[in-house]
Amino acid sequence: MTRILVLANQKGGVGKTTTVLNLGAALAGQGRRVLLVDIDPQASLTALLGFDPYKIERSSYSLLMFDGMGLARALKTPRANLALIPGSVDLATAAIRLVQERHPLTRLRDALRESRMLFDTVLIDTPPGLNVLAVAGFLAAESVLIPAQCDHLAILGVRAIQDVVARVRDGLGNPDLNICGVLATFFDPQAVYAPKTLDELRALVPVLETVIPYDVHIADAPHQGKLVLDYAPDSPGAAAYRKLAAEVSAWDG
Ligand SMILES: Nc1ncnc2c1ncn2[C@@H]1O[C@H](COP(=O)(O)OP(=O)(O)OP(=O)(O)O)[C@@H](O)[C@H]1O
Ligand SMILES: [Mg+2]
Repeated sequence: MTRILVLANQKGGVGKTTTVLNLGAALAGQGRRVLLVDIDPQASLTALLGFDPYKIERSSYSLLMFDGMGLARALKTPRANLALIPGSVDLATAAIRLVQERHPLTRLRDALRESRMLFDTVLIDTPPGLNVLAVAGFLAAESVLIPAQCDHLAILGVRAIQDVVARVRDGLGNPDLNICGVLATFFDPQAVYAPKTLDELRALVPVLETVIPYDVHIADAPHQGKLVLDYAPDSPGAAAYRKLAAEVSAWDG
């Protein structure tokens, strides 16, 4: 069964894109067929995988805006077992056009139906904020994974996502959407508030067992044009992403 996860948090810079990239690559390394979908106008995921968001001809923009666009025409394959629907800079206008021209927000969902025959896991990277592009991602997915830094704002962010999920379930036609969990990122075990915040989060939603530590190798890797899994495979950050991939794989038995 294909599992479609959307990674979202209204807060920016919490590790959404880093998690899509490294979780995706770690799952692919374990032999899973993985599709990454970039619906962020910043197109960081696309750039990190070596594609120029200014030069992409067919991107998630086409899937969001037009009916009947086949997946295959937009697919790139940057690594073995790892495919990408790239983002492009025109996604910035998609957010406006989708609303202004009253396009259905379900086109991405319809396009991703095709992915069920081709992939085991689909990871959708959303922009910060819970805007219309994020909602299109929520409509296309079964589960929301929330990367979050364990500070005092994390609780507010998770509550906001719970509200959006409730609305998407009840009013927008994705009744089975669930929150599969919060993933603690930039985790610093020395910060006394971090484990306390995790406990508070656990009272609201599931919290994944794996935590992603703050690790400078993760921040360094893009500067070397690499994933942390390749750049520093023995680093705590790379180990954490491999552990996360094992945890996510285990959900499917
Ligand atoms: N665990 C970590 N330790 C150290 N640096 C990290 C870690 N996770 C991510 N980073 C770095 O932090 C920055 C923000 O991460 P990332 O782009 O993944 O966040 P994001 O939530 O996708 O941001 P945005 O909301 O802008 O899309 C990047 O420079 C990334 O390399
Ligand atoms: Mg991002």
